[in-house]
Formats: sequence, C-alpha cells, structure tokens
Amino acid sequence: MPLHKVCKVQDLPQGEMKKFSIEGESFLLYHLEDGFFATQTTCTHTFGPLSMGKIVDDCKIQCPLHRARFDIRTGEVIDWANFPPGIQLLNVVRGEKALKTYTISVLKDDVRIKLP
Ligand code: FES
Repeated sequence: MPLHKVCKVQDLPQGEMKKFSIEGESFLLYHLEDGFFATQTTCTHTFGPLSMGKIVDDCKIQCPLHRARFDIRTGEVIDWANFPPGIQLLNVVRGEKALKTYTISVLKDDVRIKLP
C-alpha cells in the first residue's frame, strides 16, 4: 500500500480534524493528544458528514445527525445513533457498523497516510 504525504504536523493543531482527498480517497485526519489518526468521512449509520461533528473526550468523533459516537483510533462504535428520540426504530435496519480507519505515520514534519 503506497504512502502519501497529507500535510505538515503544524498544519493541524491538536484537538482538530480536517477533511482531505488524495487520489480519489476522502478521509478525515484527526490530531489527538497521542498522535494522528484517520477515518472515513461519513457516518456508517446514514452517511452523516463527520467533519461537521465534534471530537469528544479527545478520542471519539460524534456524528452531527443522530449522535453516534466512534472511537477515532479504532473506528469502533462507542454509542450508536440515539437522537432524536425514536431514531432507534431506524436502527433495526441500520445496525452498528465501525468506521473504516487508515494507517497514519509521521516522518519528521510530514503526516503520511497509507491508502489502499
Ligand atoms: S448519520 Fe450518523 S448517527 Fe445517523
């Protein structure tokens, strides 16, 4: 899998995230206290734009639509869609699904991603 340079370390302050697109692959890059991580850009519930969501507890991304929360480091579901009340009915057909994650590495000042 080829490595691609995404940005410089200083381009993304800690606690923030930013959407990138490289060679047709879009992803969200996060700068957490313990390093850089990347996930797919849309929520696995009903495709909410995670770039409009928020980082909580310095390790989870919360979807702006129905508030599902995922572990940024692993993509694992922490809390499934739970807002507004009644959304659970939809969850019968939209079951829990983890986010796709990417391998990120930092060399000197360069943040790099492994793309499929
Ligand atoms: S689209 Fe993300 S929780 Fe529904």
